[in-house]
Amino acid sequence: MCPECVPKQGGVQASVPVVSFSFRSWHFSLGRTPFKSRELAKHYDERSASWQKTIERFGFEGAYRHLICRVLSQQRYRLDRHSLRVLDAGIGTGAMTSAFHAELGRGFQLDGVDISEEMLRVASKHLQFKNIEKTLAIADITDLPYDDDCFDVVLVAHVVEHLAIPETGFDELYRVLKPGGLLICSMTRRSAFGAFVQLLWRTHQVGISRALGWLRGAGFRDVRALPMEKGSAARNCSIGYVGRK
Ligand SMILES: C[S@@+](CC[C@H](N)C(=O)[O-])C[C@H]1O[C@@H](n2cnc3c(N)ncnc32)[C@H](O)[C@@H]1O
Repeated sequence: MCPECVPKQGGVQASVPVVSFSFRSWHFSLGRTPFKSRELAKHYDERSASWQKTIERFGFEGAYRHLICRVLSQQRYRLDRHSLRVLDAGIGTGAMTSAFHAELGRGFQLDGVDISEEMLRVASKHLQFKNIEKTLAIADITDLPYDDDCFDVVLVAHVVEHLAIPETGFDELYRVLKPGGLLICSMTRRSAFGAFVQLLWRTHQVGISRALGWLRGAGFRDVRALPMEKGSAARNCSIGYVGRK
C-alpha cells in the first residue's frame, strides 16, 4: 500500500470508530481517520529513544512475560520444535521478543519488522546480548516480505489496532505462519486507558468478541483471550490473545 494512502472499505475511507450509540430511530457514530503509515512512522521515530522506559514504567515487559508463560504452559499451545523461526511484527524496541526469549529459555531465529527505522535501531541494541539470530527490516504488517508458511511463531503487540482495517493485518500474519504455528498477540482494550491511547494514537479500542472475530475470520483456530498481568497498568490497557493456524 502507498504510505500516503488510508485504505477504503466499501468505497469509503476507512476510519477508526470512536463513539457510536442509538437513540430511538437515530444512530450516531463518530470515527477518526487513522494516521497514514508515514506519519505514524515519524511519530514512533520521535519517541523511540524513550519508548523502552515508557514500556517498563507501565509494566508491559512483565505483562508480556506473564502472557507468554500462560500460553506456553498450556498443552494445546506447546511448541514442540526445538529450532524456531519467530516473527515479531511491529517489533518496536523488542519488548515482546525479549519476553518470549525469557519465557522460552533458549535461542531462536528472529525476524523483526517495523515501519519505524528508529524503533528498529533501538530494538537492535536492546536484543544484542541475547542468543537470538536476528534480522530486522522495515516492512508493513499488511504487506510482509515473506513467503507463505514460514514462521513457527508470530508475536504482535499493540500494532494491529493502528491499522485502518485490522483484518488486513491478521490475514497477512496468518499467511506467513506455518500450519500449526502460534500467534501471540496483545491489543488495546476498551477502557479509560484505552480511550487515552486512542486519543493520542488514533487506534482502535478492541472489545474481546470483536478481536476474537478478527482472529477467527483470518482462519485462526483455538483462539482465546487472556487478561494481562494482575495489577499492572498493562492490564488496564490491554488484552492478550492466542491462536493457532
Ligand atoms: C505501540 S508500539 C508496540 C511495539 C512493540 N510491539 C511492543 O509491544 O513493545 C507499535 C509499533 O508498531 C509499529 N507499527 C505501527 N504500524 C505498523 C505497521 N502497519 N507495520 C509495521 N509496524 C507498525 C510502530 O512503528 C511501533 O514500533
